[in-house]
Amino acid sequence: MTRTRVLTGITTSGTPHLGNYAGAIRPALEASRDPSVESFYFLADYHALIKVQDPARVQRSTLEIAASWLACGLDPAQVWFYRQSDIPEITELTWLLTCVAGKGLLNRAHAYKASVDRNRAESQDDDAGITAGLFMYPVLMAADILIFNADKVPVGRDQIQHIEMARDLGQRFNHLYGEHFTLPEAAIEAHVATLPGLDGRKMSKSYDNVIPLFAPREQLKKLIYSIVTDSRVPGEPKDADASNVFQLYRAFASDEHAEAMRGAFEVGIAWGDAKQALFERIDAEISPMRERYEALIAKPADIETILRDGAQRLRERYARPMLAQLREAVGLRDLSSVVVAMSNDVEKPAPAMFKQYRDADGKFYFKLVQGERVLLQSAGFDAPRDAGQCVAALKVAGRLGDAHACALGEGVTTDEVDAALALMAERVE
Ligand code: TRP
Repeated sequence: MTRTRVLTGITTSGTPHLGNYAGAIRPALEASRDPSVESFYFLADYHALIKVQDPARVQRSTLEIAASWLACGLDPAQVWFYRQSDIPEITELTWLLTCVAGKGLLNRAHAYKASVDRNRAESQDDDAGITAGLFMYPVLMAADILIFNADKVPVGRDQIQHIEMARDLGQRFNHLYGEHFTLPEAAIEAHVATLPGLDGRKMSKSYDNVIPLFAPREQLKKLIYSIVTDSRVPGEPKDADASNVFQLYRAFASDEHAEAMRGAFEVGIAWGDAKQALFERIDAEISPMRERYEALIAKPADIETILRDGAQRLRERYARPMLAQLREAVGLRDLSSVVVAMSNDVEKPAPAMFKQYRDADGKFYFKLVQGERVLLQSAGFDAPRDAGQCVAALKVAGRLGDAHACALGEGVTTDEVDAALALMAERVE
């Protein structure tokens, strides 16, 4: 069974807060328990460098985010958990994609455009203070996604355009060089909570209104008590739906408890009592994880080992073979595979090559052709990566063997195919 690949990246530029937990960490870990899903979670530390140029902060944030996900229940034996900068193939792919990325496409990226608009509003040069890193952000992100042929990428609305760009770049590459990439889809989880922050606006580091996920108990209590409310007195009915306190409560309570709290609002619960109930509810969910978090963060070397191990296995399993295939596709090839034309050869057959394509039936195929002749024709595959893997296997083997997904072309013998494959054979590290 091919599992659906779901990939999530977290920029390592801050400390996780309750909004990240309810909006991303908790739903992602729940989804990863589905056996039909293969999950990828990574710390996007290259992305962090685009906005944070304080090395200690990047390091600290990487540690805190890794420890948070582990404390919340991520099991590195069940999912892929790694750090972007431990996979050099991601940056290598970034360059391959850069070379098919239209500059005009990148000009239209929201984050870049917003910076240009700000500059214009301040009558500055369009590109004042804008790094090429910010401009290239979507290409790096596309490489994160495409390198593992992710099917789904759960993101907030602000990231949808980036997923579309990843599709776009993947499609362009496929068009030029054959079907190598799965085109990813954004998964917008409608039922996932967006939490209000202390001031009632969306909880976000940029509004400075967050409750850190693993704030010590006393600090958690203090922050919850500082949530802005209206001035209704005890006994006065309160509108639950308009209240930040209630929104937060609902994100951490069962439906039953949330309904009971709604009732308490209707009959005029005091704000102090509502906040105390909220504090107790959040603390009950967070405190076992907080203990694990504190134990983890006290042993950063163990987290380092976990991340390196994840990256190493992932590189072996997917990243290196993928890049070997892509390098071959674009022509960064082993020169010893060049068929040297010898002047005294009467007639050298044209070199054989693989062509990958998608047919009208929606399936993915490949064939091995030599000039006009079709030497091999594959059966249809549901996913382009399966076709790509079959091609890669044939190239590595250098002979047909028992590649059962292929039929010989008309009048073609196994020996001919083996000879053609032997000439193409190349080492895949
Ligand atoms: N840009 C994402 C954010 O800021 C983080 C990210 C980097 C990401 N690479 C990714 C998310 C790949 C999903 C897939 O939230």
